[in-house]
Amino acid sequence: MEEISPGLENVYIKYTELTFIDGQKGIMRYRGYDINELAEKSSFEKVSYLMLFGKFPDDSELKNFQNKINSHLALDDYLKDILRAMPETSDSLGILQTLLSAKASKESNYKYTKENDGEKIPEILGSVLSMVANIYRLKSGNNIIDPEPGESYAETFLKACSGSADKNKISAMDSALILYMDHEIPASTTAALVTASTLSDMYSSLASAIAALRGPLHGGAAEGAYRQFLEIGEPENVNAWFENNILNGKRRLVGFGHRVYRTYDPRLKTFKKYADILSTTEEQKKILAIAKRLEEAGVKAFGSKGIYTNTDFYAGMVFNAIGFPVDMFTTLFGLSRISGILAHITEYVETQERLIRPRAIYRGSGERKYPE
Ligand code: CMC
Repeated sequence: MEEISPGLENVYIKYTELTFIDGQKGIMRYRGYDINELAEKSSFEKVSYLMLFGKFPDDSELKNFQNKINSHLALDDYLKDILRAMPETSDSLGILQTLLSAKASKESNYKYTKENDGEKIPEILGSVLSMVANIYRLKSGNNIIDPEPGESYAETFLKACSGSADKNKISAMDSALILYMDHEIPASTTAALVTASTLSDMYSSLASAIAALRGPLHGGAAEGAYRQFLEIGEPENVNAWFENNILNGKRRLVGFGHRVYRTYDPRLKTFKKYADILSTTEEQKKILAIAKRLEEAGVKAFGSKGIYTNTDFYAGMVFNAIGFPVDMFTTLFGLSRISGILAHITEYVETQERLIRPRAIYRGSGERKYPE
């Protein structure tokens, strides 16, 4: 008798050398390296290179990789036209999905080979940086620009967004880009894998991933968690809000729970550190105090069921302190995830390619006659 696995829980669809997660112990590593150590000591470019090509780059490989990324920062004119044509009410992630689809329209004959992928990936990293920076600029009423290369991907991005960025913010952005880079195969990466398994191009695969990232159960959680803090309003409201909305209500605590982790999400440690360092205004300190009280209430109520704080609980606060509004949070997650998704789809197509085509168990009516 066939059985289904609801939500594909515990279904394995590929082998990977990229990300290791131990959900019981709260461990996460990229190619064997601890995630928080990478976030503290490395850079987005080095870790992307590690994920994509299997080793840290030496100095000249790093320079070459950065130069390739930087040579694709200029946005195509047709993308600028699309950006300007988007309604003001469009959300930033929806615009990113649209721009990726627009790029895909010119990729119909893409062939996955190590050589092609090695050229295409830095192109995409440069191009998506520019897309996201310009989406932010557009939404904040600024003109569309071709970003100027900075010292690092994080610096190029922040300067393209708002002209300047201090060292702490660049370092927090770099860490966030690393922490969110990959998470094995969540819904978005799986969507990209399904698309790439048909040998569709990389931009189409990324557009599929971004579409899946959009939902509040996945990428939208950093935004959801932050809106939750805003709704609570004051630290002293936390307990009553928690009781009314979560314990006695029908809502889930956003930024809590995970399909894989039965303990704290390991990425939390670095996000929490930056939330502490960067929350300097009265408003930011208040939000942080609300978050900490809410986390305490959540762990007390749900910890025994293996439901703990996930990375999105504090990530929004960090993005906000860097200078981004709530509407950008999921898009920043998307920007960070691009190289992880590309690493997964190239790993799959290059080493294990097979069309992903699951089955459904039919439970509908038997044969019927067409009504005359
Ligand atoms: N608040 C309250 N109860 C929860 C929560 C939560 N955040 N998460 C899970 N539960 C309960 C749920 O009600 C259910 O209880 P019961 O067995 O009594 O009915 C039980 O835990 C199992 O829930 P589930 O929905 O079957 O678990 P899942 O593995 O399908 O869900 C999840 C994982 C992330 C969708 C869920 O924990 C959730 O909705 N969390 C809130 C949204 C959130 O923070 N999402 C970000 C996830 S991390 C980023 C990523 O990797 O995408």
